[in-house]
Amino acid sequence: MTQELVVVTGGAGFIGSHTVDRLLERGCRVVVLDNFSTGKRENLDHRRDDENLRIIEVNVADGIWAALSSVEQAWQPVDRIIHLAAQTAVVTSIVNPLDDIRSNYATTVHLLEYARCRGVKKVVFASSAAVYGDVDESPVRETAPKVPLSPYGIDKLGSEMYLRYYAEVHGIPTNALRFFNVYGPRQDPKSAYSGVISIFMDRASRGVGITIFGDGEQTRDFVFVGDVSRAIVTACFSESASREPVNIGTGNETTVNQLAQLVIDAIGSKSAITHAPSRAGEIVRSCADVGAAKASLGFEAQIPIADGLKQTADWFQSQS
Ligand code: NAD
Ligand code: UD1
Repeated sequence: MTQELVVVTGGAGFIGSHTVDRLLERGCRVVVLDNFSTGKRENLDHRRDDENLRIIEVNVADGIWAALSSVEQAWQPVDRIIHLAAQTAVVTSIVNPLDDIRSNYATTVHLLEYARCRGVKKVVFASSAAVYGDVDESPVRETAPKVPLSPYGIDKLGSEMYLRYYAEVHGIPTNALRFFNVYGPRQDPKSAYSGVISIFMDRASRGVGITIFGDGEQTRDFVFVGDVSRAIVTACFSESASREPVNIGTGNETTVNQLAQLVIDAIGSKSAITHAPSRAGEIVRSCADVGAAKASLGFEAQIPIADGLKQTADWFQSQS
């Protein structure tokens, strides 16, 4: 079998670096395009000597043609693209919606245009549960109303529509995956808007207090990054997957109260738990209906939350 070349935008980030690991293990050549705005070189340090990996520092919003033509000359044409690069802070998108259009919407079209001109075999896009906004349905099906409550969510939804358009009109196979709350090793806990599991893990491993916003009975569908990277690579190589966007979650809800205790247990921490007022616009229930991912991709999350938290705790403890 010929070795396939896969481009991963945002490949130095949290989900991206796990996806790169999986592609290299599969025997692919991998090109990472990343501007290191939130991604880190150290996320791929363990692959430093891998001759099948190239890392190119580039802002994908500035265009990708020059970067990719150098790869094409040195290696081979691009077979597949996994588009994960994004400005991921929802609050930043609210403060500066025009920047968000550039980094989270126009960028998708740049990549699709490249795919059209080069006859790329598949484009996989990281969408988000943020496309739904605050829906009544739980678990939420892909057919639920889409009322995104941020420019981030709007740009993810718009990107999905561009994927569909390129598939319908230009015949480029595409898959949009709507990730729920992803967690695991390499997730950066540094921002106030980092994923709750990374924040709780960081605080529990330092033995400082954990703050739960509101009564803690709000739920989320926490999905382990190893499952998410598997879904991405499955979609990337699936010839038969439907082009409809699919949810990537576990189908299980965990309350933030349960989560705090699970994290404390996984770390073996003595951190105290306190409560603070609810976040504005807090979503009360969030859970994926996972039937479409199973039907379309044959994908089902496999890692129970206790196991995923244990692996995450081990990683956080190895960092301190
Ligand atoms: P991350 O911040 O770790 O990864 C994003 C990567 O993209 C980083 O390496 C960053 O440096 C890079 N990047 C950002 N803008 C870029 C640009 N203009 N040019 C080149 N590189 C750029 O975040 P993540 O959690 O790994 O998210 C990956 C994708 O998954 C994003 O598209 C995000 O919106 C989506 N997503 C994540 C979650 C989650 O729970 N983590 C949930 C839903 C959707
Ligand atoms: C996610 C996005 C968020 C976006 C929202 C809507 C991430 C990390 N966040 O938020 O930017 O607006 O989807 O699409 O992807 N919590 C605490 N204590 C903390 C931190 C969080 O109790 O220190 C709670 C939050 O109030 C929330 C839950 O934990 O109830 C999860 O928070 P978070 O990880 O930020 O994810 P979302 O709220 O789902």
